[in-house]
Amino acid sequence: MKYISPFRYPGGKSWLVPKIKAIAQEWYPQGLDKIIEPFCGGASVSLDSIAKGWAKKAHLNDLDEKIYNFWNVLIGGIIRVNGLSDSNCFFNCLQRTKTPEDFWCSYPEETSFEPSGSPWEEALKTLILNRTSFTGSIYPALSGKMGKGHTRWNQEKLFKRCQLINEKKDQLDISNLDWFDFLETHQKSNALFYIDPPYITAGKKLYRHYNVSLPDILNTTRKLKGGVIISYEDDEQAEMHAKCQNFWVQRVKMPAGKTELLFLKEPEE
Ligand SMILES: C[S@@+](CC[C@H](N)C(=O)[O-])C[C@H]1O[C@@H](n2cnc3c(N)ncnc32)[C@H](O)[C@@H]1O
Repeated sequence: MKYISPFRYPGGKSWLVPKIKAIAQEWYPQGLDKIIEPFCGGASVSLDSIAKGWAKKAHLNDLDEKIYNFWNVLIGGIIRVNGLSDSNCFFNCLQRTKTPEDFWCSYPEETSFEPSGSPWEEALKTLILNRTSFTGSIYPALSGKMGKGHTRWNQEKLFKRCQLINEKKDQLDISNLDWFDFLETHQKSNALFYIDPPYITAGKKLYRHYNVSLPDILNTTRKLKGGVIISYEDDEQAEMHAKCQNFWVQRVKMPAGKTELLFLKEPEE
């Protein structure tokens, strides 16, 4: 399976996985115990690492409640009175959802920020909105582009990816914190931190939470014990901030030919 994440997440980094894997293997030649993603979104890097075995564990964190709920349902969720978990209900319904319309005909279309259904229903809505909205945003109203015609719903493939992640649940931790509070609890960890914050220019049209300060992220992450890789849009000021905080800067080519920046800090001995 080439891609593990079921999302085609806006700003997703599946294209960067080989580069991050290569850096991880150089920095952690004995093997990587854990990868930590404070801005996980579709978690393409972490999920690849545990599915393909280049990290033993991964911790996914995102401040977005819907994203957190999705991962939480996928790896278990709440057990209900009838003995079925949210995860069971999610998989049963996903199996029946051959087209997004199969789902929307039983549930009202959801574009608001506030959750309105049970955790597993919300999780399925999140996945469907992500796969069918024009930008991949789970808040299509933000960009003004609903784009139901842009359907990328391959039920069989998505089911297999979700199932694989569910099988790896013992290797996954998840949380729903602001990045700063989250990192405070991981200061001494020797994990690899992969940091992919929202970019200033595009963030507000794509995510519910987007207002993060790159200088604050650089200042906080340079004090972590583990290795740090930050991906960011190619921007002169961002590059200058990173260099001032003693990060190595690399320019990487995206598949479409544009470039992005990587800010790197090796793990402490
Ligand atoms: C660029 S996306 C991450 C994409 C991810 N790397 C992938 O491959 O799918 C940034 C994510 O940061 C989350 N986010 C925004 N502000 C945050 C905050 N203060 N703390 C934690 N997560 C936040 C957003 O909800 C969004 O999912």
